[in-house]
Amino acid sequence: MRGNKASCWVFFFLFIFSSFPAESHGKTMKQIEALDTLQKAKLHGNSGIDTNLFEVENGAENHKIHPQEGLKEKDRIDMLPGQPHVGFSQYGGYVTIDESKGKALYYYFAEAPFSKKSLPLLLWLNGGPGCSSLAYGAMQELGPFRVHSDGKTLYRNRYAWNKVANVLFLESPAGVGFSYSNTTSDYRNGGDRKTAKDNYAFLVNWLERFPEYKNRDFYISGESYAGHYVPQLAHTILHHNKKANGPIINLKGIIIGNAVINDETDELGMYQYFGSHALVSEKTIRQMEKHCNFSPGATSQSKECRKASEEALSNIDGIDIYNIYAPLCFNTNLTVRPKKVTPEFDPCSDYYVYAYLNKADVQKALHANVTKLKYDWEPCSDVIQNWTDSASTIIPLLREFMENGLRVWVFSGDTDGRVPVTSTMASIDTMKLSVKTPWHPWFVAKEVGGYTEVYKGDLTFATVRGAGHQVPSFRPKRALSLIAHFLSGTPLPRRSSKH
Ligand SMILES: *[C@@H]1O[C@H](CO)[C@@H](O)[C@H](O)[C@H]1NC(C)=O
Ligand SMILES: *[C@@H]1O[C@H](CO)[C@@H](O)[C@H](O)[C@H]1NC(C)=O
Ligand SMILES: *[C@@H]1O[C@H](CO)[C@@H](O)[C@H](O)[C@H]1NC(C)=O
Ligand SMILES: *[C@@H]1O[C@H](CO)[C@@H](O)[C@H](O)[C@H]1NC(C)=O
Repeated sequence: MRGNKASCWVFFFLFIFSSFPAESHGKTMKQIEALDTLQKAKLHGNSGIDTNLFEVENGAENHKIHPQEGLKEKDRIDMLPGQPHVGFSQYGGYVTIDESKGKALYYYFAEAPFSKKSLPLLLWLNGGPGCSSLAYGAMQELGPFRVHSDGKTLYRNRYAWNKVANVLFLESPAGVGFSYSNTTSDYRNGGDRKTAKDNYAFLVNWLERFPEYKNRDFYISGESYAGHYVPQLAHTILHHNKKANGPIINLKGIIIGNAVINDETDELGMYQYFGSHALVSEKTIRQMEKHCNFSPGATSQSKECRKASEEALSNIDGIDIYNIYAPLCFNTNLTVRPKKVTPEFDPCSDYYVYAYLNKADVQKALHANVTKLKYDWEPCSDVIQNWTDSASTIIPLLREFMENGLRVWVFSGDTDGRVPVTSTMASIDTMKLSVKTPWHPWFVAKEVGGYTEVYKGDLTFATVRGAGHQVPSFRPKRALSLIAHFLSGTPLPRRSSKH
């Protein structure tokens, strides 16, 4: 995975954003590279990517529910290599979603240590497109374990989300992580619609394997490009529930963070963030505001726009724009003994996770890679080769959820420069919602965890102060408080508490 990302969508790299840094100082943040590539392609206008609004794919009715008896116990993970003792159950394995194509998605499931029978079921999805929820969500963000610098042993994440929910991580679509298809053309014709369809087929089959969760309150969460996956899966669930005249899946709400939701405001907001955080001169940003056209229909940009954007991007070359104040990874080597764990997120974590998940004993314990795939496990896919559709906006889906009484939360780590808080606020602004609870700080114990505003209808927006793109990596305590309030449907606290 190291080094330069030979991008799958390399043929799109011609346009104005071609100088966007794919990596900084040897640190490969693949989740975001994949996003850059796609966004660049979409801005190119004639890339062949369908940017129309998301719709449930034809034939989505035809998903099969396969017999699942006995598979749950087979998927139980006794112990992961190098893990500390824990008091919760974990499972991992494959769910076949298309027998004729030989397509199977890999999941990892961490139940809550206490009250697992009453706590909700929470699905977490990472973005990319093409990035793994095991790589980021489970092993670097909100999962129960994190990987030590030796690439062999694990330690507990004190702020794991399985304290407040039973958490399901899914590697999706096929071609991501351990998920695969025996029909390799599946890697060339994927996109938002197929991903939603496959995720839905996964869910109904998974619930058959874990029937005790069938009627459980269900929530979907995710970050970055999962700003597409999460609402599109939720929409697909509502579609099937309506057809069935009752809930097949008991979906209660969605929550997305630093999420791609509306291309035009997402892109402009990114540059405005650079300007407002003294990374790029105000003059350059004003040039871009004046001369660039980020609307979905734009097919070309003026010379002035290109010049200003090159200037802007040259200024942010040396920093990690996914957390603009964070240190970079300068030594990607594993250590013989685990480095001491510090409260600050280790910027080389990607390398530890890569080493750990590529170990044969780890894969065996996880019940992963049972077909002996011909390539390494990667945090972001090298096998997915084409992305055929990506809606220019998912805002109509957010409106649909509000009308259907789902809980809708949108959060933003405020030191992310890639899908920054300025983008998200501008995107929500286009919805012209009226305010229910005006902007105020929210607290975790005595500290300001971030700021929040609740809109009528209902939609909750919340920032997480001092967090980069992967919010639970950088501010785990604040992130846990945020998800706990989301799941319990309680407003974020306005005041500090004594403890
Ligand atoms: C894919 O092919 C392998 C090798 O033939 C087979 O063992 C496996 O079951 C297939 N996967 C699915 C999901 O059918
Ligand atoms: C990493 O390991 C390689 C190979 O052992 C070594 O040559 C290199 O100096 C190490 N890098 C650092 C920064 O220690
Ligand atoms: C699967 O296993 C094979 C052989 O054991 C290994 O070479 C390959 O890197 C693994 N691939 C993944 C995706 O885990
Ligand atoms: C990607 O998909 C689009 C739309 O189906 C198609 O026009 C294009 O040729 C594909 N590109 C590759 C490299 O397969």
